[in-house]
Amino acid sequence: MTAKPSLLVTRKLPDAVLERAARDYEARLNAEDKLYGPDEMIERAQGCDAILTCSPEKFTAEVIARLPASVRAVATFSVGTEHMDLEAARARGLVVTNPPDVLTDSTADITLLVLLGAARRAYEGQRMVREDKWFGWTPTQLLGVQVSGKRLGILGMGRIGLAVAKRARGFDMEIHYHNRNRLAPEIESGARYHAQAEAMLGHCDFLSINCPATPETHHFLDARRIALLPERAIVTNTARGAIVDDGALIAALKSGRLAAAGLDVFEGEPDIHPGYRDLPNVFILPHMGSATLETRNAMGFKCLDNLDAHFAGAEPPDRVA
Ligand code: DGY
Repeated sequence: MTAKPSLLVTRKLPDAVLERAARDYEARLNAEDKLYGPDEMIERAQGCDAILTCSPEKFTAEVIARLPASVRAVATFSVGTEHMDLEAARARGLVVTNPPDVLTDSTADITLLVLLGAARRAYEGQRMVREDKWFGWTPTQLLGVQVSGKRLGILGMGRIGLAVAKRARGFDMEIHYHNRNRLAPEIESGARYHAQAEAMLGHCDFLSINCPATPETHHFLDARRIALLPERAIVTNTARGAIVDDGALIAALKSGRLAAAGLDVFEGEPDIHPGYRDLPNVFILPHMGSATLETRNAMGFKCLDNLDAHFAGAEPPDRVA
């Protein structure tokens, strides 16, 4: 019998994923779910053939250069790969994979949750009830913004953007989008394409950010672009925090230039910009887009499918480097 490959699993994953990892690999687990810093991760990876990692762990060029020579593959438990220097991975001959597709629905669902939460002032309503400050129904209490008939601009019409559009159509929203490439008409399904993101902003009663974090999208939503949105627009971000300039967004939410925001992701999370914490018109969640048991199981299984393929001498289906 050949020895099983050894695998460092850096975080506590759902039970079914860990059971499969322990069945098929010499798995080094992290029962405490401690976030390893680079030194500890590298130390724990000594002698391992592969690492199953998550987005809070940074695989910078420096970390990749210091990985033990035995490590030949890294599967990240995230569709986003901005925490990894893929160029450095390629240069080292490191195989890197991610788990696309399986988190599309859950992330699109949470986008609609924060969109509706922001539009309908869900945080203020929750607080009123929980703090026992609700003194009964009144005709003008917590009036929000109706979504039906409104224009939704989607920045990044990949799998998740398309799933957001599908859901938003169910709320009778008119869909606009910007993407690097225009989609085929049957995929567009009537959505209006804007070749320039700035040209779309004036049509966004709601703006949904669904693009990856790249050097090009870093702080995309800054003061200049917020000024292009209609008065009292609503912004949602369920992609990556670094796409938004927090100072500019907070200023626009404070002044009322924007009506509200719904955010699941933050630059530097979990150390979010303190300005968000006491803003009543921001509906915030702690990066929960893919947090359903079904999705997290599927993400873990995809990571293991990719590693299994690598160790069977095949090309992993979701190789990104
Ligand atoms: C993803 O898969 O990118 C999620 O946001 C978790 O990092």
